[in-house]
Amino acid sequence: MANRGGFSSKLGFIMAAAGSAVGLGNIWGFPYEVGQGGGAAFVVIYLLFCFILCFPVMVTEIAIGRKSQKNAVGAFDYLGFKKWNIVGKMGILCGVLILSFYNVIAGWAFGYIFEMAVGNFDIANHFSEFIVDVFKVGAYGLVFMATTAYVVSKGISGGIEKAAKLLMPTLLFLIVSLVIYSLTLENAMAGVKFYLVPDFSELNGRVIYNAMGQAFFSLSLGMGALITYGSYVGKDDNIVTSAALITLTDVGIALIAGLMIFPLIGYMTEGAMTDVGRGPGLIFVTLPQIFGTIGGTLGAVVGTTFFILLCFAALTSTVSLLEVPVSYIVDEKNIKRSKAVWLVAGLIYLIGIPSLLGNGYSEYFSNFITYVGAESATDFLSFVGHVANDTLLPLGGCLIAFFAGHIWKKANLDDELAKGAPGYKGSFIQKYLNFAVSYLAPIVLGTLFVLTVLGTFFGINLF
Ligand code: PHE
Repeated sequence: MANRGGFSSKLGFIMAAAGSAVGLGNIWGFPYEVGQGGGAAFVVIYLLFCFILCFPVMVTEIAIGRKSQKNAVGAFDYLGFKKWNIVGKMGILCGVLILSFYNVIAGWAFGYIFEMAVGNFDIANHFSEFIVDVFKVGAYGLVFMATTAYVVSKGISGGIEKAAKLLMPTLLFLIVSLVIYSLTLENAMAGVKFYLVPDFSELNGRVIYNAMGQAFFSLSLGMGALITYGSYVGKDDNIVTSAALITLTDVGIALIAGLMIFPLIGYMTEGAMTDVGRGPGLIFVTLPQIFGTIGGTLGAVVGTTFFILLCFAALTSTVSLLEVPVSYIVDEKNIKRSKAVWLVAGLIYLIGIPSLLGNGYSEYFSNFITYVGAESATDFLSFVGHVANDTLLPLGGCLIAFFAGHIWKKANLDDELAKGAPGYKGSFIQKYLNFAVSYLAPIVLGTLFVLTVLGTFFGINLF
């Protein structure tokens, strides 16, 4: 343990894991998924996924990590099930894919710091030109990846923990202030209604698959990020309560981010709520407008601060994404951390280039693939998102739960979870987690995985 490093305190782990969870997924991803998924009905399904299915997977990942003190692949070997390390390998692949496009979006957010600083709120109307300028946004992305690599190279408690502790609460404060402000705008209530009053006629397979993918993505689950972070957790930490806190924080921040965006859309569309699901550009188009309504120097200061904090939230997530392949290479291949970090980061940046070019710059990557039965083509970035977030993460979650319930065995999971949690054995939560990892999660996630693949890529929608 000593030479691998560890979190310096209980709070340190919770903050770092919450830092991994809270990121672009909450503030960029969640609102646009809600917009495309028909509003409050999506929110309800999302919440069900988070608490009923994702929470048990989170607990399991952390337990596997702490028990084995290993990376996502080595953990399965350590527990004596070498064949199962394929789940960890899939997780590493997934982490690489996610980071490759995540870094592109983070680059946009980074660039917005400078746009807001000069009061360029009008960028809301020129977003598509902004992302087509691939040399500029590519350079922003490069800086972002380098920063991520730098933090990861500093090791666990030095870099990751310190950054998370101060900036997360500040971000929360700023978002809450913006919620209060955006609620005072005209037609704000139309947005609130769209966001919070469910219309279940909007519900279909697509909404359910997207809500599932979003839940896994936002909670950093299904790819071993929390196995890796779990390997740095102290033996007397209470995993169940830590996981509960992480889940609540992540879900809470996503919900609050929605409450910031939707009143604003109500204001911008004069209550009509048309075109709400504009897609991945949503916050880059709506947020400058909120800062524009504040206007002047104050608008610029608030806007700049917002994007600085958003970048920090993204950084604590990219750090956890990069940590997964890096800790694998460091543990298993005996490469020095400092070297592994820069190597992997450079490679992932290159893998992300098609995602960078596929937003209007390159015709080929902008219309990369047309799924069977689809009306229009999907761009490269969205394609990677569909493969990694919506498909592989839930599959990873399904396999991790099944592994704990049937291969590693419930009794071992229980023993690990009882450490640092005296009343755990015999409690209701123990019974629920046992049921969830053995039956509920494998069956529901497994079924939805198959349906997602059929529905997304082959146009076969069973409901
Ligand atoms: N949860 C992060 C976010 O919402 C993204 C992430 C996914 C991080 C998977 C780690 C692993 O931004």
